[in-house]
Amino acid sequence: MQDNLKQTFLAEIDNIKYIQELSNLKAKYIGKKGLITERIKQLGSLSPEERKVQGIFLNELKNFVEETIKNKEVQLRQQEISEALKKEYIDITLPGKDFYFGGSHPVNKTLFEIVDIFRELGFTVEEGPEVELDYYNFEALNIPKNHPARDMQDTFYVSEDVVLRTHTSPIQIRVMEKKNPPLRFIAPGKVYRCDSDVSHTPMFHQVEGLMVDEKVSFSHLKGMLVYFLRRLFGEEIPVRFRPSFFPFTEPSTEIDIGCIICGVKGCRVCKGTGWLEVLGAGMVHPNVFKFAGYPHGKYTGFAFGMGVERLTMLKYGIDDIRLFFENDIRFLRQF
Ligand code: PHE
Repeated sequence: MQDNLKQTFLAEIDNIKYIQELSNLKAKYIGKKGLITERIKQLGSLSPEERKVQGIFLNELKNFVEETIKNKEVQLRQQEISEALKKEYIDITLPGKDFYFGGSHPVNKTLFEIVDIFRELGFTVEEGPEVELDYYNFEALNIPKNHPARDMQDTFYVSEDVVLRTHTSPIQIRVMEKKNPPLRFIAPGKVYRCDSDVSHTPMFHQVEGLMVDEKVSFSHLKGMLVYFLRRLFGEEIPVRFRPSFFPFTEPSTEIDIGCIICGVKGCRVCKGTGWLEVLGAGMVHPNVFKFAGYPHGKYTGFAFGMGVERLTMLKYGIDDIRLFFENDIRFLRQF
């Protein structure tokens, strides 16, 4: 009968396949109400001799059960691991997954290039706020109250006298208010205009430039900007200056490069003209110096402004400006 208990236990544990079943088996034999536990409790009702024999026997049996369950657990766990290893086999000869390094946005790439070229020419880099006072964006740049550039359809108004800057030119005034000539800086940044089609987005980037000193002349302007365009588009690029108008420069000019797409023959991109406008520029208007607080007649200077998206489109032959802001990874990866 006593040997029977050990036999049934061994038979039962032999059948067990999962670790989870072991705790039931343990409870059945040596738990609070287990078969062996109950027998130990009944030892008191036996004669002293019987009790001694049975006591030793039951204790040994209890230890044996405990030990056997522990061993079985180790054995099952090892079995589990080796089965998992077999199932989760990794074929290390398979090719790895491709991954890509991040890179600079094409607009930023052009911007860094522009900054680098002007740094070499001794220009520093300045910045100004994107939410700008009407005064700096228009008034101090000699743009009178009734000027068409102030039209609601171009300018995002924040309030009566606060706008999202429509160009980087207000930085000219902000810097001149703080610093005296000689000045030679560029000012890159985001600008905003209420406009949207294949060549316009409500936000785009400009780089402003300003050089002011005694005796700065139009030939400085010409020399610097032609040099700049040759660095950006290559030694051979044709450049031409057209007379133009900006309220804050006099005289004013717009600068074209020969169309890179058709080689100055005329195509869809240059609208048949063979030329592409890339820069607005001119000699700083005396009224602008007046607003900046500079003494009358002491200084001369030139200013210029360019659109970074436009230059990037020309450099890489991109025909829709909106591609820059859709963040389609397939587009961005090409740069
Ligand atoms: N601010 C002008 C524009 O946005 C560009 C410009 C800058 C022209 C400086 C002349 C001098 O169109």
